[in-house]
Amino acid sequence: MEQQLKELRQHAAEELLHVATVDKLNELRVKYLGKKGSLTSVLRGLGSLTPEERPRVGQVVNEIRTELEQLIDLKNNELKQAELSLRLASEKIDVTLPGRKENLGHKHPLTITLDRIKSIFMQLGFEIAEGPEVEKDYYNFEALNLPKDHPARDMQDSFYITDEILLRTHTSPVQVRTMQNAKPNQPIRIIAPGKVYRRDYDATHSPMFHQVEGLVIGKGISFADLKGTLELFIHQMFGDNVGVRFRPSFFPFTEPSAEVDISCVMCSGKGCRVCKGTGWLEILGSGMVHPRVLEMSNYDPSQVSGFAFGMGVERIAMLIYGIDDLRLFYDNDLRFLRQF
Ligand code: FA5
Ligand code: MG
Repeated sequence: MEQQLKELRQHAAEELLHVATVDKLNELRVKYLGKKGSLTSVLRGLGSLTPEERPRVGQVVNEIRTELEQLIDLKNNELKQAELSLRLASEKIDVTLPGRKENLGHKHPLTITLDRIKSIFMQLGFEIAEGPEVEKDYYNFEALNLPKDHPARDMQDSFYITDEILLRTHTSPVQVRTMQNAKPNQPIRIIAPGKVYRRDYDATHSPMFHQVEGLVIGKGISFADLKGTLELFIHQMFGDNVGVRFRPSFFPFTEPSAEVDISCVMCSGKGCRVCKGTGWLEILGSGMVHPRVLEMSNYDPSQVSGFAFGMGVERIAMLIYGIDDLRLFYDNDLRFLRQF
């Protein structure tokens, strides 16, 4: 029996040497020391020994058990340490590797232009107003002194949804909505940026484009205020050297009305293809708010007066960046967009 025990110890020690994982080590522990393990079955055989032999063999069994337990614990620590170092090595980060560059986008040129327009007017104390893009005929035309069948409606070919509802053709309906939401004769100083829609399509016209409306109402507001405000805006937007021209025009909702041109930024006013040889480029429409328009929105034209303007954002962006086809803004071509 002692011989048997010696061999068992020998085998166990050898097997232990070749164990490479914690799982295998646990299997080994069960094999020798478990309830049905080899050492346990030897202990069961003690009954067949003589009373003199029993304590001695029992002692040897216990020694071997203690020794194996210690060896297994040692091996266990060793394996755990090895597995840890392996994991640390495989998860190591090489901080000297070059980083991966984030591919950040940036603002669209129209957004950049719109942001600049907004910030200039906000410095002048204007607030931002908004209105719906799907608009009632009443706000888009009628309350702006454009009754049904008025010939000036033809200037803005429209997308109708029903007889009374359309995609707004300009931002001017926000004038009406702002006045009708205000207290009687309450002063107003707003800009209203947003999308508008017309049945247009060529190098300077798109079916969806952006306008910024302006409306100022108060006691004693005059054409001089209109001129001063727009000249200041244009010089901040295009620089001090740009020429500004007010040209008489017609809008049913303003009287008098003026369209505003700036000297051509491509040829500095000498005359080129972009300005069609005139040296000037139109950027906005404006005028003194028509007394009928004030009256229809509960303002008293004998008490207050005002001016309004509406500019095309795409046109202004084209002039600032020297772009000769407005449709490029909407082609989503990265070769174009990356340049801003
Ligand atoms: C108007 O829309 C008036 N509501 C402007 C106004 C407001 C006048 C307040 C007086 C008082 P007009 O149709 O001219 O006006 O358009 C204004 C600007 O929008 C034009 O100068 C032009 O810059 C731009 N625009 C017009 N149609 C298009 C289009 N299809 N694509 C891009 N820009 C356009
Ligand atoms: Mg016009």
